[in-house]
Amino acid sequence: MICSPSFLSSNFTKLKEEIISVKTARWLHFDVMDGKFVANKTYDHRLVKTIKAYSHQFFDVHLMIENPEDYYSDYVSAGADLITFHYEATNDIFNLIKAIKATNTKVGISIKPDTDVRVLDPFLIDLDLILIMSVEPGKGGQKFIPESADKIKYLADKRANFNYNYLIEVDGGINLETAKTVKNSGCDVIVVGSFLFNQKDRQSLIEDLENV
Ligand code: DX5
Ligand code: ZN
Repeated sequence: MICSPSFLSSNFTKLKEEIISVKTARWLHFDVMDGKFVANKTYDHRLVKTIKAYSHQFFDVHLMIENPEDYYSDYVSAGADLITFHYEATNDIFNLIKAIKATNTKVGISIKPDTDVRVLDPFLIDLDLILIMSVEPGKGGQKFIPESADKIKYLADKRANFNYNYLIEVDGGINLETAKTVKNSGCDVIVVGSFLFNQKDRQSLIEDLENV
């Protein structure tokens, strides 16, 4: 699996150092919150641009914002490699997928824990990635919701049966134990926040997580 560190729960007073501490991870996960789609507010495209100056990782941008169609282009300009928006946050999913793809940026959709994974069926063929939220979006440090593994399995089976190309990513409550669970269900990318940033030796932990 690929480990995509979420620096949400890292020390923002020394952010550059924190990001450099996970530089062996191929991906870097950005949790953008607007205080509307979720209660918390984090940062926006300006931070993505700042970090682009010193990180050469694959920029995995998770937009937990309302009306992503009004903002996605700011993230394209800031250097996002992948933009994932929420199924629950917009009405015009087909056009948004098309618009993001037209900028040569990869596109993903995320669903919250209470959303039925089957709502994604019409979009699967067009997606580069599906992000299963395994906690309620909004903050780090929560407990993995076990039913998320069933959603991953559903998507992995669909992909095998229909030859779809998307990656399956999971976000929330990932540690060595839950990483194993989601790997067995067919997951490709794990977002890891508090479990990684609470440890000192992050490089070896990234390796362990990727090879559970
Ligand atoms: C939750 C965010 C996650 C979260 C992951 O809204 O999308 O990326 O910060 O953090 P942990 O790994 O602590 O659950
Ligand atoms: Zn996230």
